[in-house]
Amino acid sequence: MPTIVHRIAGMLAALTIAVFFTSTVVVELAGSPAAIAQLKRLIVMPGLFILVPAIAATGASGFALARARGGRLVQAKRRRMPLIAANGLLVLLPSAIVLARLAAAGDFGALFVGVQALELAAGAVNLALMGLNIRDGMKLSGRLRPRGQPAAR
Ligand code: HEM
Repeated sequence: MPTIVHRIAGMLAALTIAVFFTSTVVVELAGSPAAIAQLKRLIVMPGLFILVPAIAATGASGFALARARGGRLVQAKRRRMPLIAANGLLVLLPSAIVLARLAAAGDFGALFVGVQALELAAGAVNLALMGLNIRDGMKLSGRLRPRGQPAAR
């Protein structure tokens, strides 16, 4: 059970950040101010209401799965998790709220640009950390071959 929860929540968290990131880049390069404001609203609601519980469920189920095991891969995943959670709760969440408010007021000035740059950077860092956790998770479950081991026949 924790394995299924962990797998779904982990993939959902990573997918949510990837969708926030790409939709932000596309709409800010090609969209109208109204489209940007609408996207920023959607990222807060329902976006954050999907992302935050998904990160929490991934962490809780991951630590439950790791109780019975140790090793280098589990250690690496354990070390990345506080960074992922802090990045999500302390950078992505407040940035999304500030950006939605500024966009709703039609304010796309220096503060919007600065917070947007910070949000994209934090999103890229979290995507990279989650990608590493997915890779190591797939090695732990045996879906992905650990480096240097021959393919199973
Ligand atoms: C956002 C962070 C994380 C993501 C995206 C993530 C993702 C995944 C995924 C997708 C799998 C399943 C791979 C498969 O089914 O082939 C997995 C497995 C696993 N994860 Fe995570 N994980 C995260 C955090 C953690 C943490 C914090 C721990 C605890 C230290 C952990 C421990 C494990 C373990 C032990 C497995 C293997 C389960 C098994 O035996 O099948 N994960 N992870």
